[in-house]
Amino acid sequence: MNNIRAAITGIGAYVPEYILTNEELSTMVDTSDEWIMTRIGVKERRILKGVGKGTSDMGTKAVKRLLEKTNTNKNEIDLLICCTVTPDMVFPATANIISDKVGIKNAFSYDLNAGCSGFLYGLSTASKFIESGQYKKIIVVGADKMSSIVDYSDRNTCAIFGDGAGAVLLEPTTNDNGIVDSIMRVDGSGRKHLHQKAGGSVKPASHETVDAREHFIYQEGKAVFKFAVSKMADISIEMMNKHKLTSDDIAWLVPHQANKRIIDATIRRMELNKDKVMINIQKYGNTTSATLPLCLWEWENQLKKSDNLILSTFGAGFTWGAIYLKWAYNS
Ligand code: UT7
Repeated sequence: MNNIRAAITGIGAYVPEYILTNEELSTMVDTSDEWIMTRIGVKERRILKGVGKGTSDMGTKAVKRLLEKTNTNKNEIDLLICCTVTPDMVFPATANIISDKVGIKNAFSYDLNAGCSGFLYGLSTASKFIESGQYKKIIVVGADKMSSIVDYSDRNTCAIFGDGAGAVLLEPTTNDNGIVDSIMRVDGSGRKHLHQKAGGSVKPASHETVDAREHFIYQEGKAVFKFAVSKMADISIEMMNKHKLTSDDIAWLVPHQANKRIIDATIRRMELNKDKVMINIQKYGNTTSATLPLCLWEWENQLKKSDNLILSTFGAGFTWGAIYLKWAYNS
């Protein structure tokens, strides 16, 4: 039983069609393409348009594509975890809604909220269910409609975020490939720097909370930046040291896409060649739980069996973590 590893055996993703460019943003707030490209590194982001459309619509598309691509029977799925900070509604879980829309009937499903670290927390959790031997097919979805909580009159936050969804299938393997290790961390005292003030049980929605714009992202950018820069690099290096990996041993770094400057600092600390780093922040911005699966989806064709990948992240909570995995298939 101890020899079972969880391997990613397929990826599906979905990004909405509407492209919000820096040029269009510059007509909404006092900003410029030059400022956003220099300070954040985002050129454009996708926005889910349409009344009644939510995170589950993107998650459902990603999961359907995943099932089709991997030729997987939906009745064989044991568990679906949806990582998100923008659920369709407070309850029930968006994972339940996705399962219903996809037609998954023989599974259990739940949401996981770990800010931008959601997908890695989800992957780490799901891998344990596979390693236990009890479950054979688990879907981890990372999906966020960040545009639903972004204040498009606040230039400090509106340039950063975008919408999207990605999903991976996890299955057991008894060879060396798959998820080797995960290190996950939390420091809840960091919540004061990045949160949504109202809409929870402490401050339910009211006319006052809406008037005070408290249903949008509240972020103290500089404080978050400082933590993110050190923690994402620290945890990646901790993982390298633990497994005696040099930068030459690593085929790919898959970093959370929050700010190009945070990614660059992590690359420098890990002494990695930039060609080994997945970066698509310029196209999608920070899609929160979706950044990592969107990277894997985009680079899937370049990944080779047994490649060493480090996935690393930092997000609201504060939460952060790294996963070391050996890629399980050639496309
Ligand atoms: O994944 C979740 C975790 N989140 C993050 O990792 C975000 C981490 N933080 C950041 O990425 C950066 O702190 C920001 C991109 C949010 C901000 O960059 P910064 O270099 O830390 O800028 P700042 O907040 O210190 O602001 C500098 C100036 C301010 O003007 P004043 O007060 O000096 O006049 C801001 O108002 O830049 C101004 N500013 C902007 N100017 C043009 C802030 N946003 C914009 C903007 N366009 N979009």
